[in-house]
Amino acid sequence: STRVLTGITTTGTPHLGNYAGAIRPAIVASRDANVDSFYFLADYHALIKCDDPTRIQRSRLEIAATWLACGLDVERATFYRQSDIPEIPELTWLLTCVAGKGLLNRAHAYKASVDKNVETGEDPDAGVTMGLFSYPVLMAADILMFNAHKVPVGRDQIQHVEMARDIGQRFNHLFGQGKELFTLPEAAIEDDVATLPGLDGRKMSKSYDNTIPLFGSAKQLKDAIARIVTDSRLPGEPKDPDSSHLFTLYQAFATVQQQADFRAELLAGLAWGEAKQRLFELLDNELGEARERYHALIAKPADLEDILLAGAAKARTIATPFLGELREAVGLRSFR
Ligand code: TYM
Repeated sequence: STRVLTGITTTGTPHLGNYAGAIRPAIVASRDANVDSFYFLADYHALIKCDDPTRIQRSRLEIAATWLACGLDVERATFYRQSDIPEIPELTWLLTCVAGKGLLNRAHAYKASVDKNVETGEDPDAGVTMGLFSYPVLMAADILMFNAHKVPVGRDQIQHVEMARDIGQRFNHLFGQGKELFTLPEAAIEDDVATLPGLDGRKMSKSYDNTIPLFGSAKQLKDAIARIVTDSRLPGEPKDPDSSHLFTLYQAFATVQQQADFRAELLAGLAWGEAKQRLFELLDNELGEARERYHALIAKPADLEDILLAGAAKARTIATPFLGELREAVGLRSFR
């Protein structure tokens, strides 16, 4: 069987980009009888970007409720919090000891911080923590711990999955004695949603404040859609679907037939206001039921706790013995 694994960092409220890029493909994959799936809340990763405990706690709850509301079957999938698996930070250290500093110097997130400091004339490492620098090693541990083959992610995470591959390969080479200790993972990208645009056309991202929250109220959804930037063509004038991120957003959630119809309407001069109404109806329709489930779930944090603890116990039936093997492989064996 194939192992599929992915995580979401618990620093904010899940948005449509997280859903289309990771959650939806992951849930679809988990329904395949030949797939073993591992989905988790990356709450150790959250500490890298956020020092607000209240926000992290809230986000963990929101993201847990989101996966379940979107239809994840926790009997089939293994669903857990990263911070409930102590084997992950332990594996992170084993991997840190073989991960090249040169490799990590090239990580986008770290480089972006350094480049910004250089531009503004600051010390290059100002504000850069060791957490940010070693972020890809922790992510490699997440993936390699469960020998995942496929990692459904948006385009922004491809580099991290490739680094996990490099680090895993190096570890296999050094300690595998000819056998593959780790499976080498691959990113699984859905081409048409690899980078879902936000309200302003840039990548939808918390850091650009251009997101559409996945489970906002119908009113919040409508208000967000009203903020989508469009060109200045008037009602009746033909619109170009291929240069419109409103169309890209529509496309990510519509059937092939709906896409063709909407394209034809835009070309025939549909007003942007009408176009926004169409997108609202499409999304409200796709998300409405899940939104209700989400609100019911989030009102019962103790139930979510039970589900996540059961998931962690299940994950550890794999992680604990595997870490034992890895410890032996590097020379940390019992004397007995
Ligand atoms: P994070 O929390 O930033 O994002 C979660 C997932 O959502 C995807 N995504 C998008 N996809 C398409 N269009 C967008 N606009 C968009 N915005 C976000 C991301 O690509 C990601 O798949 N480091 C990871 C979390 C992580 C992880 C892992 C993922 C930790 N360990 C192991 C996979 C495997 C992150 O910060 O994602």
